Amino acid sequence: MDRILVRPSGPLSGDVKINGAKNSALKLMAACTLAEGKYLLRDVPNITDVQSMAELLRCMGLTVCNLENNQIEIVNPGNIIPEAPYEQVEKMRASIVVLGPLVSTFGKARVALPGGDDFGPRPIDMHLKGLETLGVRFNSEHGYIEAEAEKLTGARVVLDFPSVGATENVMMAAVRAEGTTVIENAAREPEIADLAAFLNRMGAKVLGAGSSTITIDGVNDLVAVEHTVIPDRVEAATYLSALGIAGGEINLLGARADHMDMLCQKLGEMGMRISSDSTGLWAMAGQGLRSVDLATLPYPGLATDYKPFLVAMLSVADGVGIVTENLFSGRFRYVDELIRMGADIRTEGHHAVIRGVVKLSGAPVRAHDIRAGAALVAAALKAEGETEIRDPHHIDRGYENLVENLKNLGADIERAP
Ligand code: UD1
Repeated sequence: MDRILVRPSGPLSGDVKINGAKNSALKLMAACTLAEGKYLLRDVPNITDVQSMAELLRCMGLTVCNLENNQIEIVNPGNIIPEAPYEQVEKMRASIVVLGPLVSTFGKARVALPGGDDFGPRPIDMHLKGLETLGVRFNSEHGYIEAEAEKLTGARVVLDFPSVGATENVMMAAVRAEGTTVIENAAREPEIADLAAFLNRMGAKVLGAGSSTITIDGVNDLVAVEHTVIPDRVEAATYLSALGIAGGEINLLGARADHMDMLCQKLGEMGMRISSDSTGLWAMAGQGLRSVDLATLPYPGLATDYKPFLVAMLSVADGVGIVTENLFSGRFRYVDELIRMGADIRTEGHHAVIRGVVKLSGAPVRAHDIRAGAALVAAALKAEGETEIRDPHHIDRGYENLVENLKNLGADIERAP
């Protein structure tokens, strides 16, 4: 198995181009099951999660071709198999978002039940309840959910929590339902607005995406379209944390500050300077990081996906920071790895208390998931000696060029076989 090796680095300098958002690209690909024809998606990151979604679409009978410059072409022949096998869903839990579009297009779908993951249990009750409100009946057998509906009828769907996946599944089912669907307490993430823009381009009538109330007027006809994926705010956060830890000044080309307001505010409180223009973000590390308290919340709150980076930064900041996780109960596993690197962190339930230390100490550590792995890479930039990050395949699920990009910014990093 290969590893990522990192040695103390900094200051960082130069430009890094931010890729299209993983969490948007995956849903747009799923939406290509909604109508026959040829789609073109631009700025799709070349990462293993996208390959997994491509594989899932191929299992259903669609054709997916990687073109140059991060473009992919997807051909939906119309008569696809509305089924997501366990082998695919197991690789990537986000595969569950094919449920809504499949059942709305074919009146039936068979999708493997996703298991838990390193964040703890990941229930899909809200996805199912929302779809049931539109008229879908579910049966669960042999590890699969079987969905059926003679027709979908628009309805008022009130989500218990602004779940990203449930909002997307209900939205994609509702575009073909008869009448009007209103999703209340909808998730407001920029990726939801991107999916709605894509659906509208296909001929759907989705209003209000990006706010807590989304209204969808069902239509009969949808067509295949072209679309450019929005930039990945979590990838941008990764480089900002590396900068905060290693020092320096960088440009994040293509990043959108308006998708990252709360993060930029927090990083400002920690002592970084960030500004933006139409080309992206400019960021400079200050004279060392200051500790802050923070809590993860649904958008526009501080995203849970940023948290590992912020914890890595707090590990070497001046003072004590308290971090509260409000979305995923088990999302502190990487803390044990940071502690192996000399961080002073105590976790209690969904809180972590982080006392900044002057320097970390390089050690062999394991990437448990995409963001946790990337956060260890960032932390290693300020660790004495060499840090060896094992299981980098988790990082590959979400990053096209993390090692090369950091190297280009001046980090002492390599991938070793
Ligand atoms: C998406 C993102 C993930 C991000 C998360 C929160 C993708 C591929 N993944 O995940 O990176 O961390 O949003 O911003 O886009 N919940 C239920 N029942 C449900 C659905 C969710 O209880 O039916 C709970 C979850 O356990 C969690 C919370 O709601 O505690 C938020 O989950 P959700 O917003 O659905 O996250 P995902 O869509 O899975």
